[in-house]
Amino acid sequence: MSKYYKNFPRRLVSALLVMGVAMSFAQAGDRAEKYSGENRGKPAQPSQINAKFQQECSTCHIAYAPGLLPAASWRKVMGGLNKHFGSDASLTVQENKEITAFLVNNASNRWSASTAPLRITETAWFKRKHDSHEIPPTVWKNPKVKSPANCAACHQQADRGDFSERNIKIPK
Ligand code: HEC
Ligand code: HEC
Repeated sequence: MSKYYKNFPRRLVSALLVMGVAMSFAQAGDRAEKYSGENRGKPAQPSQINAKFQQECSTCHIAYAPGLLPAASWRKVMGGLNKHFGSDASLTVQENKEITAFLVNNASNRWSASTAPLRITETAWFKRKHDSHEIPPTVWKNPKVKSPANCAACHQQADRGDFSERNIKIPK
């Protein structure tokens, strides 16, 4: 028996080990590169919510969970409330300060890109999770859905910041 074959099991073990290490590095790389750094935070909703935020930001749509956007996005949104997607959502200086602090302190903790979109629906993670592989284009034309920003049309617990798959129901 040649020396090579005697050592075969050990060589196999070390080859597998090297492969395993290489694969876990690749996975770590994938995670860092996931959605090009535009990733939502976990959890999306902090355990403590803010009453002012809940009151002022849920009259026209659900109060979007702060972890869905990075801090820089929230600063932009809160800095432009007088021209907020075609409506005037202005607040007093004091209210604005309190809500901005809440949103910024609980913003996405996994956002590594330097981008700061104004919309959740424009982020890379949102687009990926809601692309045509996940949701057929006809769904978006359903009047019950209206807009991709209408999270609660499909996510039954969206107002609580719960987007888990067991609480999704696509309207018929
Ligand atoms: C007077 C109504 C009104 C109020 C009050 C309001 N919004 Fe909005 N908001 C809108 C409209 C209209 C849109 C666009 C919805 C759409 O595209 O379907 C919007 C969209 C958004 C979006 C982007 C959603 C997307 O497309 O991803 C964010 C983020 C947002 N609002 C945050 C806030 C915050 C934070 C507050 C509280 C300070 C607030 N809004 C209060 C009317 C309002
Ligand atoms: C037309 C229905 C629909 C609308 C509207 C919608 N979603 Fe979704 N969403 C889905 C479906 C279906 C999935 C599951 C995709 C999958 O299997 O990964 C999903 C997945 C998600 C996930 C990932 C869940 C997980 O556990 O991986 C998040 C977070 C999410 N949506 C947030 C939102 C937010 C925030 C909004 C509004 C700004 C929104 N969605 C609007 C249908 C919708």
